[in-house]
Order: sequence, then C-alpha cells, then structure tokens
Amino acid sequence: MKASIYKMTEEQIDEEAILKAGELLKKGELVAFPTETVYGLGGNALDPEASRKIYAAKGRPSDNPLIVHIADFEDLKKITAKIPEKAYLTAERFWPGPLTMIFEKSDIVPLETTGGLQSVAVRFPNHVIAQELILAGGGYIAAPSANTSGRPSPTTAGHVEEDLGNQIAAIIDGGPVEIGIESTILDFTDEVPVILRPGYITKEMLEEVVGQVKVDPTLLKKTDGIKPKAPGMKYRHYAPKADLYIVKGKEKNVINCINRLAVQEQEKGGIAGIIGTEESVGQYTDGIVKCIGSRKEEESIAKHLYEVLREFDSSGATVIFSESFDTPVMGQAIMNRLLKAAGHKIINSEEE
Ligand code: TXA
Ligand code: MG
Repeated sequence: MKASIYKMTEEQIDEEAILKAGELLKKGELVAFPTETVYGLGGNALDPEASRKIYAAKGRPSDNPLIVHIADFEDLKKITAKIPEKAYLTAERFWPGPLTMIFEKSDIVPLETTGGLQSVAVRFPNHVIAQELILAGGGYIAAPSANTSGRPSPTTAGHVEEDLGNQIAAIIDGGPVEIGIESTILDFTDEVPVILRPGYITKEMLEEVVGQVKVDPTLLKKTDGIKPKAPGMKYRHYAPKADLYIVKGKEKNVINCINRLAVQEQEKGGIAGIIGTEESVGQYTDGIVKCIGSRKEEESIAKHLYEVLREFDSSGATVIFSESFDTPVMGQAIMNRLLKAAGHKIINSEEE
C-alpha cells in the first residue's frame, strides 16, 4: 500500500480530503496527521483491530498504550470512568493544547488501545487539521507519534513518509509542526497528579492551576530497578544510527572538548557529527556541524531536535556529539528526549 498524500494548511483546509481521510479512519484504516507537537499515526481508538494495525505499522511493543485524541471536551466523558475536579481545571486552562491527561477508562475503550491498562490517556490537540480529522473520523482517534518505533518522532510529513509511507492508507501534510516534542503527560489516577513525560507545559504551569504536582522519579535521573509509569518511557527512543554523546560543562569548555573529540574521530578514519546552536556553530573546526536553534529562543531548539537527529542518519557521521540544552523553561523536556536518544551517554568537558 502506498499512502495517499493530502496537502493542506490550517488556514486553507481541503474539506474534501478531510472527509475522505475520515472515512478511511471509520473503516479501520490508518491516517497520519499533523498536531502542534509531532505528527500522529491515527486509527479509530474504539476499534481493537485499528489499534492492532497501529502497533504493527510502528513495530511497537503491544504493552505501550496509545493516546486517544478528541476534539470536543464533552467526548471525554464517554471514554473515562471518573474525571477529578482538578482535571476539569487543567482542561479549562490547557486544552486544546500540548497536554495529555490520564484517567480511569470506561468500558468502551478496548484494552488493545490502552496496552492492557485500565487507564486511558487523552489529548485534545490545538491544531485545526487534527481537530477536523478527529471529528470526521468518529471523534476518538488513537494516535502515537507517526514514526517507526525507536526512531525520532516526525515533525514533517516527509518524516512520516520515510518511516510509514508503504504501510498506511493516507498522510495529511500540514507542513512542519509548531512545537516539535511530544505533549506533557499528566496522570490523574492518583490524588496528587503526576507528570509521566515532560513537555511544553511545565510542572510550574500546572501547579499554578492545581497546586502540588509530582514528577515520575524515573524522569529526573537514570534509575535502574524502578519502572516509569508511562510504559513507553522505558524504551530507548529517538536514537540516531550513530552513537550519540552529550557533552556538558561551560560553553567554552564544551566547544573545545567537542573540537578535540572530532579530531580524534577523524584520526580513526571516522567523521564526527556535531549538534550546536546559532551561538556556537561558527566555533567548530571539524566534522559535520548542524545548528539546532538559538539559545536565545529555546522553542527553536525543541522544534528542530528530532529533525537534526534524523538528518544525521543520512550524513555519514560515525559518532555524534551534542551540546547540552538545560534551557530555562523547556530544558527538562528537551534533555529528557536527548538523554534517551543518547542512551544516557554523557561526557563532562570539565574533566576531559
Ligand atoms: O504529543 C503527543 O502526545 C503525540 C501526538 C501525536 O499527540 N503522541 C504521542 O504518542 O507522543 P506516543 O504513543 O508516541 O506516546 C504516548 C506515551 C507513551 O510513553 C505511553 O506509554 C504513554 O503515553 N501512555 C499512554 N497511555 C498511558 C496510560 N494509560 N498510562 C500511562 N502512560 C500512558
Ligand atoms: Mg512516540
């Protein structure tokens, strides 16, 4: 199967294509679509067969649950058993938006969609194409990121085509996404809400609305023995083909250290890939240097992270060294992804 590609923008939606894609979803087929975070691989969340197809297309382990996407707040009530007051307040402030909430599920949500769990993850995306498609497809669309399992999440329709172009019915190309990393996941199944995956919506923003918010301890450091509560967080993710190392320390030391490592790699007959910023790229002397964004604009770093990781796969780089991006607001979300991509390999430039 070769995916049909429907091109449109949020300003100029091709209503006919949305109807066609909605019909495909209703028939149990898979359609990839843009959201404000990353591209999603959509299937009817209430159809166990469609969920099975999603796992098969991605090569995803079947214990890793899917997020159900809605486009009408009222629809939340049908797929959940209980909505705590704090979740209403959170939805009022952050939906539609880059936030996923976890609830006890109702009976209509099949266990195939929730990876066998009694809870369900739900998101109301803030993207007009996504919203129209969700409604056209019946209102409940399961959508993991539209990448092959383990690869960086797709931020353009081209990335989706690269990974899944021969396995799904259609791709809606709405141009590059706005945010570039996946939604924050907030679990409401305990008294105090817990962040299971950091994202654009931070702990501080959530605490302004609901008071105390905890963070899954596995997100903060490498923990052996404790399992993350979001099953997907335990898998290696986003990994480029070449080994990736994160180099930490003061800016000048990081640049000097990466330059030395790049020379060493060349002497061994390899080529170093380097991930720097607008502020630093001019100071690298060897290797394949890519600019991820500007430190003055941390959103730009989040937005280009996955694209840069993907680009290195076809670049000939034999090893990749990245600067560290502990930026003020999105730093935790960015570093969570980068550390996973690096398999937690860190070089301290101060000790080199
Ligand atoms: O931004 C996003 O959230 C994107 C776009 C397409 O909406 N979707 C996305 O889905 O990132 P996915 O499948 O790549 O990641 C879903 C994460 C996984 O880590 C999964 O384990 C977790 O959500 N998850 C889903 N349902 C859960 C549940 N009931 N309990 C705990 N974790 C859950
Ligand atoms: Mg994913």
